[in-house]
Amino acid sequence: MTAFIEGLPKAELHVHLEGTLEPEHIFELASRNKIELEYKTPQDVIDAYDFHDLPSFLKIYYAAMGVLHTEQDFYELTYHYFERAAKDNVVYVEPFFDPQGHTSRGVDFDTIINGIHRAQEDARKNLGIESNLIMCFLRDMSAESAAEHLQMSLPFKDWIIGVGLDSDEKDNPPTKFQQVFADARQAGYKLTMHCDVNQKDILGHIRECIDIIKVDRIDHGINALEDEALCADIVKHDLGLTVCPVSNRFVVQSLTSNEIRTMLEKNMKVTINSDDPGYFRAYLTDNFIALTEEGHFSEQELTQLARNAFDAAWLDDADKAHYQQRINDYISG
Ligand code: ADE
Ligand code: ZN
Repeated sequence: MTAFIEGLPKAELHVHLEGTLEPEHIFELASRNKIELEYKTPQDVIDAYDFHDLPSFLKIYYAAMGVLHTEQDFYELTYHYFERAAKDNVVYVEPFFDPQGHTSRGVDFDTIINGIHRAQEDARKNLGIESNLIMCFLRDMSAESAAEHLQMSLPFKDWIIGVGLDSDEKDNPPTKFQQVFADARQAGYKLTMHCDVNQKDILGHIRECIDIIKVDRIDHGINALEDEALCADIVKHDLGLTVCPVSNRFVVQSLTSNEIRTMLEKNMKVTINSDDPGYFRAYLTDNFIALTEEGHFSEQELTQLARNAFDAAWLDDADKAHYQQRINDYISG
């Protein structure tokens, strides 16, 4: 089964570029940018990863991204991720980036996006990985700050396919950003939002995403299973769900394999993703393998999960057909 998973052509729709920062790279960047770390070795950094809920993860995540300063830093961050993803047979990615995590430290928006974009171009040329970038707003910052970043992004509109919403969900509902997301839609962006696992008011957040924000996709969204009407609306609107099994395990002590199987049975477009693989120490293939160990998924179920990701991607029909054919060729080859 491991060999089958490794070879399967995959798409990844929920990976935070800043969440791909590897401990060795944290050290390299800190040294280059003359930043003192409180750790002596990359292993000390890993040993300090003690995540049990979203805030405990975010604290470490924002502190570590402080080593990213120059365009070259953002280039390397992104290109290293693509190199790692290529080993997992990932052929298409819609990665997130968090500009407010950097502009708040004095890094220019142009610096961030130029570095990321150059890496996307090189990954296309050198690794054969296509990608489309998603800009996330930090939901624990103000709607005004999100609106300012939407404006900053507009000169780079051709390099960004959509906007998302991440960071601390508690008391930061989708409707806080209703106007910004309406403006983003007007600008031509696709829309997605995190509805993280087991958050306060989570069912209300999922409902707002569907009815008010009218998202094109939902990130996580596992809790929708607690409400039949939500499940029915997710199917009716054909909304992809980007579930992250290893990431979930830090919060719910399970890879949510039962929930993922139930979603498949209900015809919900559930996909498998890595979220923050540098921190959770599991890239996409690792997520598929861990999930299969817990849930004993068949080749057919795993193939459906991989197909769902290409289907839920923000690609045109011809591109989707091309990727589905790659899966057909793999299965029949
Ligand atoms: N930012 C990076 N990873 C995140 C996650 N899993 N949930 C919310 N915000 C995030
Ligand atoms: Zn996420």
